[in-house]
Amino acid sequence: MITLHEEAVVPRSARECFRYVADFRTTVEWDATAVLACKTSPGPVAKGTEFEVHCKAGPTTLKLTYEIIEYEPWHCLVLRGRGRLFDVTDTILFTERDDGTHISYTAEFQFSGALSPLLSAMEPGLHSMGKTSVEGLAQALTDANPLPESRPATQRADNWVVPGLAMFSKYGFRRGRRHWHPMSTSMKNKHVVITGATSGLGKAAAIALAEAEADLTLVIRDKKKGEQLRQDIAAETGWEQISLEIADLSLVSEVDALVERLRAKDRPIDVLINNAGALFGEYDVTSEGLERSFALLLMSPWRLTEGLHPLLAGHEQPARVINVVSGGMYTERLECDQLVMTPEHYNGPKAYARAKRGLTVLTEQWADAWATDGIVVNAMHPGWADTPGIGSALPTFHKITRSILRTPEEGADSIIWLARAREADTTTGKLFLDREIRTPYLLEKTRESKDERIKLPAFLSALYEQSKTEGQQAA
Ligand SMILES: NC(=O)c1ccc[n+]([C@@H]2O[C@H](COP(=O)([O-])OP(=O)(O)OC[C@H]3O[C@@H](n4cnc5c(N)ncnc54)[C@H](OP(=O)(O)O)[C@@H]3O)[C@@H](O)[C@H]2O)c1
Repeated sequence: MITLHEEAVVPRSARECFRYVADFRTTVEWDATAVLACKTSPGPVAKGTEFEVHCKAGPTTLKLTYEIIEYEPWHCLVLRGRGRLFDVTDTILFTERDDGTHISYTAEFQFSGALSPLLSAMEPGLHSMGKTSVEGLAQALTDANPLPESRPATQRADNWVVPGLAMFSKYGFRRGRRHWHPMSTSMKNKHVVITGATSGLGKAAAIALAEAEADLTLVIRDKKKGEQLRQDIAAETGWEQISLEIADLSLVSEVDALVERLRAKDRPIDVLINNAGALFGEYDVTSEGLERSFALLLMSPWRLTEGLHPLLAGHEQPARVINVVSGGMYTERLECDQLVMTPEHYNGPKAYARAKRGLTVLTEQWADAWATDGIVVNAMHPGWADTPGIGSALPTFHKITRSILRTPEEGADSIIWLARAREADTTTGKLFLDREIRTPYLLEKTRESKDERIKLPAFLSALYEQSKTEGQQAA
């Protein structure tokens, strides 16, 4: 047997340290050898929770299955890992004191018979690995990361359409992940409003933010689905601070009513995630007379964000608005009079891309206008993720690309990072993919004119008034 023992003191509460380590998926953020980790048993992290961790071992990768065998909040955690070549028992003790939390980490390795003769040769390497890992853990819990740099290699790839598009796949996610900093910030007492949380990216983000203990307000249009979602999130995470707001976001009257309800509650909003969306293959108008892609993807986030400004402004720490756009917008240029397509010329992907381009421009405009109000506004696009939305809107694309699509969790990663990471409120008005700032234009011809940018808010206001009147007449 080889025993490693390391200690560290970190400037966090024992509760936060315990919760971070107990979710052993975080091991990839701090362990010297872990490259992949997932939770393999359902439900909140507790005694009995299982994880699968893949560790680098020379030229190969070893799979270990871990189980939490002791779980004494916020004091003691014991995990047992079993692998082909060795078993390991990790005992982690947390003691809160005036300057933070003292962490004592002991790992006991039991090697299989074949490796026993090599133990003495392996021991120094293991000790050094243990030291690096606990230093990594201390760094993760210190949570003082810089904003990720925009890497020259990414900028070069973005100058060429094909390499730029390759980043949308799961391989882009894997490439990006290699450069990330740990994310240990707690979301306790942070109020997060997410639209479109019943499936796909929104659901993945809601689960991850519930795991980080955010108080969630989920905006959904179907009460029954919403109740089921709330139960699902609570069952998976053990977190129950979840409110539901019902609104069909393609109707300005419902967006306005939602804004009114949230303002009446007067609960400050720390994070607003404009995620709800769909790509409509067929032309249709809402009961308020607006073409529905435009209504849902541009008018709705514009009204919602403008309306919630009083709840976002003036907090001690910047509030964050996150607009979920799409790589599809790279094909289109903002031209206000082309945003609302007519039935004769309707093309679903174009209508979708134009609206997302509009939301990207609004992101930059809000970022400038609200810089002194303590609100940061950023956009992200998820690449291509295998969600119900993409399956139903683009069945052929889905069939062809299925093997390279990201999971919903991978697609949602930058939403979660922009909502949670401490360093993510130090930038505003940017577009992100895989936690990295990306160009909003892959093609120079899609850059809008200054006049179109100036026209956009007034154009939206005029259509908003018009649809309100039309909705009232129809009622
Ligand atoms: N998946 C991708 O590869 C990809 C790529 C680029 C951008 N995006 C963007 O990512 C966001 C999430 O998409 P997704 O792929 O996760 O799709 P999804 O699985 O279809 O989820 C869309 C969500 O939006 C909600 N929604 C749709 N219409 C609504 C309405 N009128 N009122 C209220 N909620 C409404 C849906 O609610 P219901 O359950 O009630 O339908 C659902 O919760 C969208 O903005 C999408 O444009 C996705």
